[in-house]
Formats: sequence, C-alpha cells, structure tokens
Amino acid sequence: MAISIDLQGRVAIVTGAGRGIGCETAQLLARAGARVVIADIDAAGATAAAEQIRAFGGEAIGVRTDVTNPDDARALAQAALENFSRIDILVNNAARWTTKLFKDMTPEDYDANLRVTLYGTLNVSRAVLDAMTEQKYGRIVNLISDAGRIGEPYLTVYSAAKGGVAAFTKALAKEVGRYNITVNGIAPGITHTPGAQEFIQGAGGEEKLAKAYPLRRLAQPSDIANVILFLASDMSAYMTGQIFSASGGYTTLG
Ligand SMILES: NC(=O)c1ccc[n+]([C@@H]2O[C@H](COP(=O)([O-])OP(=O)(O)OC[C@H]3O[C@@H](n4cnc5c(N)ncnc54)[C@H](O)[C@@H]3O)[C@@H](O)[C@H]2O)c1
Repeated sequence: MAISIDLQGRVAIVTGAGRGIGCETAQLLARAGARVVIADIDAAGATAAAEQIRAFGGEAIGVRTDVTNPDDARALAQAALENFSRIDILVNNAARWTTKLFKDMTPEDYDANLRVTLYGTLNVSRAVLDAMTEQKYGRIVNLISDAGRIGEPYLTVYSAAKGGVAAFTKALAKEVGRYNITVNGIAPGITHTPGAQEFIQGAGGEEKLAKAYPLRRLAQPSDIANVILFLASDMSAYMTGQIFSASGGYTTLG
C-alpha cells in the first residue's frame, strides 16, 4: 500500500491564506483531510479560498483576520474552536515586506513590516497555545525566509522580522515540547506569488534570479506547501525547533 499523509480529524489555521503560499498550503492541508480555517486581512480572499476547498469536498471557513491585532487573533482561535472543536495545526504565513534601501526606510515602514511579520506570528501563536496545550498536541509551522537567516539587501527590516520569527521558533519549541507541540520553520527561496512579483521584476526578472539557485528555477507555491504539509503532519513528530530551507539550494545552512 502506498504511504500517504493523512490529516483527517485535524484542524488547521493558515494565516495570510487568501492567496500565494498560504492559499496553496490551505488547499493541500484540506486535500490531506484537515478542516481548515483560512485567515486573511482580505475578507474576499479568505472567503474565495475557503470556497475553493469546499468545491472539491473539503471543509473550510474563511475568517477575516488582521494578525497585527491580538483581539482578531483571539477571535480567530475562537472561530476555529466553535466551528471545528480543536486546533491542531497553525501555519503562521501572513507577512509584509517593503523593498527599499535601509537608508530610505521610515519608522512607519519598520512598524508595518514588524507588526505583520513578527507581531502577527506572536499574536496568533499565543491565541492557539491554550487549546494545543490542553489537547497535548500541536504543530506550529512558521514561514521564515532565507532573508532572516543570511540577510538580504533591500529587505533589511523584513530580514530582522524573520530573524525574530526564527529565534521565536526555537525558543517556543523548547517551552512547549513537553505538551507534544512542535514548532518548526520553513525558509522558502523566491517563490512565484502575487506578493513576490514586484521583487522579482525589480531584481531583474526570473531568468536572472534563477542563476543563483543550484536547481536553476524559482519556487512554485506547491514546492513550499509540500514541506509545510510534512511539518504539519505526524511524519515530522520528532523534529522541533528547526528551520528548513526550501530554496533550491540557494542556502546550504543546516
Ligand atoms: N514569495 C516569496 O518569494 C517568499 C520568499 C520567502 C518567504 N516568503 C514568506 O512566505 C509567506 C507567504 O508569502 P507570499 O509570497 O505567499 O505572500 P503574498 O503577499 O502573496 O500573500 C500574503 C497574504 O497575507 C495577507 N496579509 C497581509 N497582511 C495581513 C495581516 N495583517 N493579517 C492577515 N493577513 C495578512 C495578504 O492579504 C495576502 O493574502 C510570507 O511569510 C513570506 O514572508 C515568501
């Protein structure tokens, strides 16, 4: 019999899942059998992504959520519990980045990047932790970036925010391992999403960028979602506090 990843009975929250990597991840988790809560500041995107899942027979709801707001994060966890009774998986995917030289960044730019990317991850993680602790089961997967591991010019504050998420991943993993909650991170290379288009074009386009990647191509959202599925499943039960690159070999950090 073929081996498959089965998430039946599991409930997942994916933030920023109205489009891009988050949307692809939500679809994949649903195809593996999870019931999925799509959280996005874009209410129409969240609704449409949930409808796509229901269209193939999956179970999903869309919840308009601004992850920068702790009240929204609590309401999101509450919606998951009211609709599906548990929270097993959290994918902290929502992020925001400003592509500028650091000398041109304003305090408002820092604030916007840090609030979504770092505080958003803290807010939603905090909101789901009681349910996961009580269940003695949890899988938290944080979207990081190689920018947060090796630093990227023009993405300095984003690099700082993702570096913060990476350290948070390791620290939280040490705190909550005793409750059978794992916390891991994935660091994608440049991935074809709506949010990355401006960066890809501004940096000279796909063909030029792909030369820096041993696999000679940029990522598709499915390249990233597949790794998240593994980290969200029991296949990764004995791995926690780790950051995994899915970046076509761009970085070879452990
Ligand atoms: N695309 C890439 O090249 C790349 C590379 C490395 C890491 N990442 C990371 O992967 C993740 C997804 O990236 P993407 O390219 O799919 O992004 P995207 O910009 O295409 O989509 C991001 C989603 O997050 C939502 N969002 C923004 N602010 C929000 C908020 N305050 N509350 C809730 N939702 C909010 C947006 O509405 C959007 O639907 C991010 O964490 C990003 O940092 C992406």
